[in-house]
Amino acid sequence: MHRRGKQIVSIYFSCLLTFALSAPYIPNEKCKECHETIYREYEHSAHALSYFSDELHHKVADVSNPKTYACAPCHMPAAGNRKALVTGRERPDPNDVRERDGVSCFFCHTIAYVQKAHHFNRNIPAKQAKGYKPSLFGTLENPDESDKHSSLKSPIYLENVCKGCHSHKINENNVTIFRAMKPDENALSCVRCHMPEVLGGAEKHNNRNRATHHSHRFPGIRDPKFRSTGYAIALKRTKDGIDVTLTNKMPHPMIIQPARAKYLQIVVTRNGRVIWRNYRKDPSEDRQGYFVYRFFEGGHPIVIPTSATSEKVNNLQGHESRTLHYTVPGLKSGDNVSVTLFARLAKEDCLKAIILEDQTYTTPMLVKKVEWTVP
Ligand code: HEC
Ligand code: HEC
Ligand code: HEC
Ligand code: HEC
Ligand code: HEC
Repeated sequence: MHRRGKQIVSIYFSCLLTFALSAPYIPNEKCKECHETIYREYEHSAHALSYFSDELHHKVADVSNPKTYACAPCHMPAAGNRKALVTGRERPDPNDVRERDGVSCFFCHTIAYVQKAHHFNRNIPAKQAKGYKPSLFGTLENPDESDKHSSLKSPIYLENVCKGCHSHKINENNVTIFRAMKPDENALSCVRCHMPEVLGGAEKHNNRNRATHHSHRFPGIRDPKFRSTGYAIALKRTKDGIDVTLTNKMPHPMIIQPARAKYLQIVVTRNGRVIWRNYRKDPSEDRQGYFVYRFFEGGHPIVIPTSATSEKVNNLQGHESRTLHYTVPGLKSGDNVSVTLFARLAKEDCLKAIILEDQTYTTPMLVKKVEWTVP
């Protein structure tokens, strides 16, 4: 190893020692020193968002309960004071790096196992012996002797690591807030799609000459190219209009996050003039083409689901295909039909409960568009 490298390593070791003795936590910024490529991917991912940087989450959390922060186990998992946050003894503190770090590198790589539970699962972090360098879970069989930290190969880790937060969430009244995974499903498929292999080694010196690593960008709904791969749209002419078949190519439901809406916009034009559309102003006018969770408390619609006693949802389950029929009076051969699937991070209803400054939450995002000429 060249001299500069050695210097960095010794600085790192001295930092690590202080961390290990006081609090065995290594902030994201530290991992960046050696895993720069992975850090660069991660810093723009949803996992790097936190209570302090995700306006939608922050505002929903505060409206849901201004005194307690029950969201901490999944949204602020690295916090050293998680219990105090959940019970309301302490409030989120932007000066605490463990709270700012979001779903942090260290947290994910020290999940020892996942405990299944009814309301939501729990991540059980590995205990780090004081004074020892941390064992970060990875997939290497036999990590380098000279490494800055050891890495334990852990199949449990691989198969369970997404389950602690993404599996399901059920509120106190047994209403499902989201469910992305079946009870016996493992996390390997989540990793395959949401952490695709990309070119480049896993750390700066690339000791093992690895050609690829798993992307820590965690592509999801915010990635235009990635989100379009989740769906197929097909069209067919019928006696009195058109059939639009929407297929969910993902193994999980189309809508997981209940603040979101996904909807179809269908426009029929003839010689450039619009002759029919599936809604006038608000996409929710078309009930069958508007995919969303709705929550009720004692029969009355509510926006924030914490206290919901029932729910209604228009959703496509994993791999489900649904044909929606639309009557289009006077449809003719040669008419042009465009079908666009849009997604919004915060559905219109959210604005009844919170005010959002950042318009990216409310601006419709194009997911997929199909143009078709009526045969
Ligand atoms: C069981 C774990 C878990 C708990 C507890 C939890 N969440 Fe989440 N939350 C998630 C996961 C996982 C995501 C990302 C996946 C998704 O979009 O559904 C998420 C995403 C969100 C989003 C969307 C963020 C965005 O920018 O699109 C909001 C809003 C949100 N959560 C609010 C809350 C609030 C408020 C609480 C506490 C009252 C809470 N969550 C508690 C797991 C959890
Ligand atoms: C949401 C959980 C999660 C977070 C957050 C996370 N990782 Fe990972 N990481 C994984 C998983 C899962 C794998 C293994 C993928 C596999 O081997 O199939 C992995 C793999 C790795 C690897 C091995 C190289 C490879 O093949 O990908 C390194 C090194 C690594 N992560 C470092 C980091 C660093 C540094 C950060 C923060 C910048 C980070 N991780 C954040 C889950 C996470
Ligand atoms: C001083 C440099 C350094 C720092 C800082 C560092 N690592 Fe590493 N890490 C390495 C090296 C070197 C390897 C071995 C990689 C190899 O051989 O391919 C490694 C391996 C790993 C592995 C195992 C990779 C696998 O495929 O199993 C994981 C996981 C990992 N690091 C995560 C992290 C996380 C998370 C942090 C921050 C909490 C971090 N590392 C901080 C140098 C570092
Ligand atoms: C400690 C809890 C936790 C773990 C473990 C975790 N996540 Fe997440 N994940 C979250 C939270 C919270 C968010 C949303 C953050 C926000 O938007 O504010 C999220 C967001 C995401 C998103 C963005 C979803 C979208 O499109 O909106 C993807 C993709 C994702 N996670 C994949 C994974 C994968 C794959 C794993 C397993 C390797 C994993 N996560 C493990 C908590 C977790
Ligand atoms: C076949 C590829 C594939 C697999 C496997 C997969 N996903 Fe996805 N996922 C996607 C695509 C594509 C999107 C973006 C499209 C969308 O959200 O409508 C997505 C979106 C998401 C979202 C955001 C949903 C929302 O409400 O907007 C979450 C959360 C998520 N995935 C979690 C997971 C978890 C957890 C697993 C493992 C059980 C998993 N995914 C497995 C392809 C996949």
